[in-house]
Order: sequence, then C-alpha cells, then structure tokens
Amino acid sequence: MIKAGIYGATGYAGAELIKILSSHSEVEVLFAASKTYAGMDLNSIHPDAPNILLQDTEKADLHQADIVFLCLPSSKGMSIVVDALQAGVKVIDLSADFRLNDAIEFKNWYGTSHVAPDLLSEAVYGLSEANRSKLVGAKLIANPGCYPTSVLLPIWPLIINSILDNSRPIIVDSKSGVSGAGRSPKQHLHFVEVSGNFQPYKIGRVHRHVPEMEQQLSNWGSSIPELIFTPHLLPVPRGILSTIYLPIKPGHKEHDIRAIFSKTFSDEPFIKLLPSGQNASLAHVLHSNICVFGVNLTRDTLIITSAIDNLVKGAAGQAVQNMNIMYGFTETCGLK
Ligand SMILES: NC(=O)c1ccc[n+]([C@@H]2O[C@H](COP(=O)([O-])OP(=O)(O)OC[C@H]3O[C@@H](n4cnc5c(N)ncnc54)[C@H](OP(=O)(O)O)[C@@H]3O)[C@@H](O)[C@H]2O)c1
Repeated sequence: MIKAGIYGATGYAGAELIKILSSHSEVEVLFAASKTYAGMDLNSIHPDAPNILLQDTEKADLHQADIVFLCLPSSKGMSIVVDALQAGVKVIDLSADFRLNDAIEFKNWYGTSHVAPDLLSEAVYGLSEANRSKLVGAKLIANPGCYPTSVLLPIWPLIINSILDNSRPIIVDSKSGVSGAGRSPKQHLHFVEVSGNFQPYKIGRVHRHVPEMEQQLSNWGSSIPELIFTPHLLPVPRGILSTIYLPIKPGHKEHDIRAIFSKTFSDEPFIKLLPSGQNASLAHVLHSNICVFGVNLTRDTLIITSAIDNLVKGAAGQAVQNMNIMYGFTETCGLK
C-alpha cells in the first residue's frame, strides 16, 4: 500500500478524489488537508464522501506520504510541490501550475510569477492515453484541465495521422456543468443566475485552456490548425460536452477516420467510440472515468462530440489513472 496525502480535500475535485481513493486497493489516505475546515469530518461537508478527519494544511505530514495530490486553486500549491519533490514525495497536481512548459506564458495567462520554473520541463502532462509511457515512474504529473481532456483526446489520433487541413481552424464549442468552476461562491454561479439559463463566456482565444491545448497539439504535429474555443456554462452540476469542428484534408471518408479511432483506442478501458449515427451525451459518462466520442463527417469538416465527467475523467479520475500508471498498478484500479 502507498500512502497518499490530499491538499484541497474539501473542494469538488479533492472530495471526488478521496471518494475514489477510499476504494483503491493499493492506496491508504494518509491525510486530507484543509485550511478552513481542519478538525471537521469530510462527510460533514460532503455527505457522500468517506468519514475522514480533515487536518490543517500547514500541519499535514508531507514527509510520511509517498504521493500527494494538489487539488488547490492555481498558484496556491506551488511551494508544496517544491517541498514534496525535495522530500522525495511524488506529486500529481490537479491545478494548472505545471501544465504550461514556459514560465513567461504561465505569467501571461495566470497573472503571477511561477515559483519553480525549473520544474516545468520535468512535469509530465497527464493526458493518460496519449502520454502513458512518459507517466511510468514520473515524479511530477500535471493533470490536464477538464475542457482540454474532452478536446485533446479525440484530436490526438487525427494529428498524429496527418488528417487535418492546417489552413482552416479547429473550432471547439464546449459546455460545462457548474462544478467546473469550483466550490467557492461567485455571484455568476448562484442558483438563480445559472438555473434555466445558458451562456457562453471567454469566447474565441481568451480562455486559459487555449494555450494548454495548443501546447499539446504542437507536441503532436509540427504544423497545427489555429484553435478557436468557446466554453459555455451549462445549468447542471457536472459534466462536459464538447462539439469539435475539425478541418479534414480532402479525400477522407468517415469509415477511414473511424478506423483510425478504432486502432488508437481499441484497447483503452476509458475511451468509448460510439457507433455511426450516435453522439456523446452527459448521460454516457456521469460519475465515470469514461470519455465517449461520436464521429460525424460533413463534407470536409469532421464534427466530433466528446463527453466526460469534469470531476472524474476531467480531474480526480484521470489523476488516479495517472497514479496507477506512475506506480505500475492496474490502470483501472479504483476506477471501475
Ligand atoms: N472542478 C473541476 O471540474 C476541475 C477540473 C480539472 C481541474 N480542476 C482544478 O483542480 C483544482 C481544484 O478545483 P476544485 O474545482 O476542486 O476547486 P474548489 O472546489 O474551489 O476547491 C479548492 C479547495 O482548495 C482550498 N482553497 C481555496 N482557496 C485556497 C487558498 N487561497 N489557499 C489554499 N487553499 C485554498 C479550499 O479548501 P479549504 O478551504 O478547505 O482548504 C477549496 O475547497 C483547481 O486548480 C482547478 O482548476 C478542477
């Protein structure tokens, strides 16, 4: 058994992670840390979570852990990452702090200087299916953002098989449930503002997930289409549905493209390619670590529908999948 510590345990991602880890046969939860609720039980805050006493973040015994998961807002956990790695403790960071490999880009997008720029090149981007070999034995994993997970997984096989026409943009229209914005109260997330409403935000190229996605696309292909990305706030608690419009080189048929997806993902336990004519929905994926795709070719535009649960495949579930790969555990352990 390995010992895991969780920072940000009372947040949506942290509580989901503890729920998953509590049924994982290879992991013991050593501590669940909180600044605000230390001394209380986690299930007094999240009634569906296990009964774990929350420890003060400052007093959590980092040095006794084999691995720590950071489920904190961006930039709030960087110094814990540095301390953990110095103590020989492995880290999976669910925030965006180690996703971009350039400290200047990080400052431009997140508005704060990186405290450990030298670690950016060491961090492995934890898109499990695409980066599996690099995750084995990794010390620091940057868990991907929720929107990027839903978008990058179906685009990856198309880029590595040179199917895309780089002269036209990829257009992504994503919708997320409200838990994607975290648990801290914000006026635009109040029930009255969200319920019965549906709206886009950060339209085009201004959301922080744009550089994260473009960095990955560039790792897979020397020339890539521009990315236009518009997220929407969906009035449901959880789930992401991304509709992705991909420019395809002339001459491809839907069955060729389906064959590429089948070849890439046939052995993947958490990827489900839907049969022709069916499309992804939140109902396919809620509370699971599955990413489901629907594939539709209209002239020279491929329209993919991709759905995940933002708190599972988009956060805590993928973090556990990455931990399983990191340690050589069965990849599905705790997740099925
Ligand atoms: N929600 C998602 O769908 C999702 C998906 C992928 C990645 N992520 C990333 O995962 C991380 C956690 O997300 P979340 O949605 O779980 O957020 P959240 O619900 O807001 O929880 C974050 C937790 O961190 C602690 N915290 C808040 N402010 C803090 C501060 N200034 N200093 C130290 N601790 C603080 C809080 O717990 P205490 O007050 O109890 O300490 C809070 O419960 C974020 O970086 C987020 O971007 C989230």
